[in-house]
Amino acid sequence: DKGEYEHFMLKEIHEQPVTVQETFRGRVAMDESKIFLGGISDVMPKLLEAKRIVIVACGTSWHAGLVGEYLFEKYARIPVEVEYASEFRYRDPIIFDNDLIIAISQSGETADTLAAIRKVKDSRATILGICNVAGSSISRETHAGVYTHAGIEIGVASTKAFTSQITVLTMMALLLGHKKQILSTEEYQKLIHELTLVPDKIREVLAIEDQIEKIAATYKDASNALYMGRGALFPVALEGALKLKEISYIHAEGYPAAEMKHGPIALIDEKMPVFALALNDNNYEKMISNIQEVKARKGKVIAVVTKGDKAVKSMADHVIEIPEAHEAIAPMISIIPLQILAYHIALMRGCNVDQPRNLAKSVTVE
Ligand code: F6R
Repeated sequence: DKGEYEHFMLKEIHEQPVTVQETFRGRVAMDESKIFLGGISDVMPKLLEAKRIVIVACGTSWHAGLVGEYLFEKYARIPVEVEYASEFRYRDPIIFDNDLIIAISQSGETADTLAAIRKVKDSRATILGICNVAGSSISRETHAGVYTHAGIEIGVASTKAFTSQITVLTMMALLLGHKKQILSTEEYQKLIHELTLVPDKIREVLAIEDQIEKIAATYKDASNALYMGRGALFPVALEGALKLKEISYIHAEGYPAAEMKHGPIALIDEKMPVFALALNDNNYEKMISNIQEVKARKGKVIAVVTKGDKAVKSMADHVIEIPEAHEAIAPMISIIPLQILAYHIALMRGCNVDQPRNLAKSVTVE
């Protein structure tokens, strides 16, 4: 039931304050002192021994995995490889006994992701699932796992599953980081607190939907679009581009901002919209130079910035202001305006937002 919403996708975008909350409900202590993940507590000794994490997934879930790479590296100091399940399954991967394999899948039925974990089932590595659909094949064929609890996702373009997957990855990274004594209890609890702020920050972004809709109207006739970000916002750029291409059929690509000079910048002219993730984090100054490079080639810049920003605002054609967000949670907040943009652009182009052409909700065949 779509309720008051015109499409499932819009409903699911708007559900995110609640679905993220559902993901950490009962897992983050009420007093924000600790995280408890019942689904992986039995294998915790194995997780603490893990020398490497290999994440396997497809599409949006693969993008969540890329965000996870930054989280595990930063907060738990565990090296991470993020693999397209479709490639991993046909390679000859080297798996060590103390590897931790994490399959991320909303449906839990994606054929390539399922085949990827079957590929490693005879190894001694620990295999975890991060699935949304309870009892799905991937959740059954893994040793342990953490459900995302985002509720059924109907729109073919994944939205709420993505933010819930990142919520699980954040909880896992913080829990492991604290248990491994990489995060002090003080840092751990501060980061837990940041995580609990996500629902309200998403609400704040949803409240400026009208503004984002106006920007959508300006760019609805574009035939191409670029997205750029740095650090953990690079996967957000990839995800923003995927949302736009899959539902509006505008050709869109995401890049790590510094890669622009190595080729993609040749695409820029006065018709090219470039969506830039330029929050006031450690990469801010570098993003400003990347935006200048785009403007010097007459590209149109639509920047997602932190509320109160001045420098980017003075250069960009449009800015979308999001609330101040700690870098640990910034991906979950900054993807929201890109989901809303893609939705409205697709709608204005007369596309079937919930069921884009050529796509199925779960890809159970190769
Ligand atoms: C994009 C999208 C797909 C899925 C991919 C993996 O919006 O929905 O890219 O993310 O097919 O699906 P799951 O997560 O079910 O394995």
